Amino acid sequence: MVVGLGYVGTPLAAALASKGHDVTGFDIDPDKVALINKGLNPLPGDEPGLDELLAKGVAKKRLRASLDPEVISRARGVFVAVETPVDEITHDPETKALRSALGAVGKFSNKGLTDTSTRHDEYLDDAYSS
Ligand SMILES: NC(=O)c1ccc[n+]([C@@H]2O[C@H](COP(=O)([O-])OP(=O)(O)OC[C@H]3O[C@@H](n4cnc5c(N)ncnc54)[C@H](O)[C@@H]3O)[C@@H](O)[C@H]2O)c1
Repeated sequence: MVVGLGYVGTPLAAALASKGHDVTGFDIDPDKVALINKGLNPLPGDEPGLDELLAKGVAKKRLRASLDPEVISRARGVFVAVETPVDEITHDPETKALRSALGAVGKFSNKGLTDTSTRHDEYLDDAYSS
């Protein structure tokens, strides 16, 4: 499960799906969710290889996106990758999106979601191994 399908979350979700994981992404942006569910890259700019990974992941039904935070309840692991822009004056990170996303995780995550750091490490090792 990936919460936030931006420049970090979308490639992460696509990479995990390409390694055989069943991945659902949750985002509050309906355009991003709709594009990903069509197998299309929602990100402006050059992201080499991402178009193909997304298309394959969706076609193989290993990857999908949703606007419904309830999907978090079916996750075995959750990556949160929402924006944390830095204030130009104070240089503090803005945590509004992060608080909102973590609120959804807290509300909907299942009871089995306890040892998150270990699970994330396992997923990352698998996703990025050659
Ligand atoms: N982009 C980079 O190169 C990069 C590099 C290092 C670290 N980071 C960090 O990674 C994190 C994610 O950055 P990014 O560039 O992917 O951000 P981004 O702005 O590209 O994407 C964030 C996504 O989160 C979604 N979102 C916002 N609030 C949400 C909520 N409550 N629930 C669900 N989705 C929500 C937005 O709609 C958007 O699609 C940030 O903390 C950033 O500082 C980014």
